[in-house]
Amino acid sequence: MFEINHVSARYNMLTSFVNAVDDVNFNIEKNEIFGIAGESGCGKSTLLKVMYDLVDYPLEISSGSVRLYNGNSETNYIETGKLKECWWKDISYISQGAMNVMNPITKVENQFFDTVRRGYHKKMTKKQIREKVAAYMKELELSPDVLKAYPHQLSGGMRQRVLIALATFLNPRIILADEPTTALDVVVQKDILTMLMSVQKRMKNSMVIVSHDMGVHYQVTDRIGIMYAGQMIEIGPTDEIFSHPKHPYTQMLISALPKVGDNSQKEGIPGTPPNLKSPPIGCRFAPRCKYAADECRKIRPQMVPVGDKHFAACLLLEHAKGGNE
Ligand SMILES: Nc1ncnc2c1ncn2[C@@H]1O[C@H](COP(=O)(O)OP(=O)(O)O)[C@@H](O)[C@H]1O
Ligand SMILES: [Mg+2]
Repeated sequence: MFEINHVSARYNMLTSFVNAVDDVNFNIEKNEIFGIAGESGCGKSTLLKVMYDLVDYPLEISSGSVRLYNGNSETNYIETGKLKECWWKDISYISQGAMNVMNPITKVENQFFDTVRRGYHKKMTKKQIREKVAAYMKELELSPDVLKAYPHQLSGGMRQRVLIALATFLNPRIILADEPTTALDVVVQKDILTMLMSVQKRMKNSMVIVSHDMGVHYQVTDRIGIMYAGQMIEIGPTDEIFSHPKHPYTQMLISALPKVGDNSQKEGIPGTPPNLKSPPIGCRFAPRCKYAADECRKIRPQMVPVGDKHFAACLLLEHAKGGNE
């Protein structure tokens, strides 16, 4: 229902390019929560911007495009360059740090009016919108008082809830959320994730959650795509990724997670990701990979099936294809 077709995107720094997203190719299915994971700086936010068609200088798409399918028809879709026309209505986006970008001088209720005006072509009266908004707040178990408040009068958690309400108000087919819980404390994080999951369950739309926190993915997502240095290196059902991670990088991400009853000091992943201005030509993880062979530094690995709906890009897995793992 949403296709990301071989997307590459870069920041044009005049004398050089930051190749933030490199040949990323996958689909989002109807009624699923898809997670995008990976360390900070690996291109998650950039990919999400491309998916939302929010591509402004210095960001540019160097190849590929995204497509959002309308209904069940295979020929009826909206593509990169046109998605802006269906913001809020068909696709909505909660940007990283969005809590701080709410218009500070506009009461919450008026932020809803703006959203509706941008997202709806047909005319709705203020009274109609007000009633609809009030009903929706009730549905989400948010106090109607929130509508009369200015953003700064709300706690961080409440502001994030309001943003989720705004992003889902017109029942878009897909909702993109960039690090929706990152700035919040742990207890509030859990409430926000619960809210996102219950909204998705009710509306049966698709949701994309970007987070560097594997714990978030474990709690909410149905499938995960793991990014490393601008590339998607593994993709699969969440339980598979956690129980049988295939790519050495994913294995390190998973083994770095704290486990119940295990108090041993967790080591981070040694080394740092490559500079995206001139990434290595072979596997981008090779310089940090304990299994890397000579060819890993020369040949770019392709995504190969490694399980049911599970794919990973690693030369060792390519060789072992059909093996017994
Ligand atoms: N506006 C920008 N101008 C130049 N480089 C940028 C800009 N935004 C992000 N980058 C670079 O693009 C790469 C990917 O960043 P980003 O997509 O924000 O990663 P993530 O969301 O995974 O942390 C990083 O190397 C980052 O420094
Ligand atoms: Mg980011």
